[in-house]
Amino acid sequence: MSGFDPGWLELREPIDHAARNAEVESVVRGYFGERASLTVVDLGCGTGSNLRALAPMLSPRQHWHLIDGDPMLLAEARRSLALWADCARDADDELHLDKGDRQIRVSFECADLTLRDLHFSDINPDLVTAAALFDLVSLEWLERLVAASAQRHVPLYAVLNYDGLAHWQPQAPLDERIVAAFNRHQRGDKGFGPALGPTTIDAFSALLAKYGYRVWQGDSPWQLGGGDRSLIRALTAGFATAASEIEPEMVEAFAAWADERADTEGAIIGHQDIFAAA
Ligand SMILES: C[S@@+](CC[C@H](N)C(=O)[O-])C[C@H]1O[C@@H](n2cnc3c(N)ncnc32)[C@H](O)[C@@H]1O
Repeated sequence: MSGFDPGWLELREPIDHAARNAEVESVVRGYFGERASLTVVDLGCGTGSNLRALAPMLSPRQHWHLIDGDPMLLAEARRSLALWADCARDADDELHLDKGDRQIRVSFECADLTLRDLHFSDINPDLVTAAALFDLVSLEWLERLVAASAQRHVPLYAVLNYDGLAHWQPQAPLDERIVAAFNRHQRGDKGFGPALGPTTIDAFSALLAKYGYRVWQGDSPWQLGGGDRSLIRALTAGFATAASEIEPEMVEAFAAWADERADTEGAIIGHQDIFAAA
């Protein structure tokens, strides 16, 4: 349904984990403090990367409810989480994991988030989280989520929201034009209506203020170097393809740019993390 390639998600996972803002993460850890157990909903979970990053910082006993619209990604999440854990057991529809001294119960839900009720009253979560999702959603959908969460005083933790900044080293003449076209493409419909794209942070912050949330926010840029060649190649090709949809007459020039950029020294892609408590 979503067209997110599991290979792409696997490639970005270590970079995503390294990029997550440590200060915001430590606020999240402190907020839940000594709680013995916690229920977390992860929206647009993909193959489970967000759980693998966050669960080791949270309570000894956790229940994660993973939601995604793509059944293939959910199947891959189940498989890769079982491999990630020290010990994994299937229990009815759930997966029970031991990881270090954490016991993590995982349930999986295949659902279209544009249609699902966002109060999650069937799950009663202590935290709703999402990684690399909110730049795909519309303002209308995000307001529905924030309003529903505020009603139940549920904290929100959204990481790796693309903020529109992208730099390659060394710079090349077409960089600025490609990034501008890519950023316009990010505002297109990704299934939720017109996507927030690079405006996500401003829009999300304004909504959180409107619904009375306290907010902690920080940068979480991808800092890619020589060791990240495969990711740089895939990323650069993705920028060129998206930019070409906005400027079709530039398709050849953008493809040539991507070829040259594939071996670039490094790249920085800007993201922001936000934790909000009601
Ligand atoms: C950029 S990926 C991020 C995946 C994962 N959170 C991660 O950090 O690796 C976005 C995810 O959102 C899911 N998604 C996109 N639109 C969706 C929708 N309308 N309903 C449910 N899931 C959706 C995709 O299937 C994909 O797994």
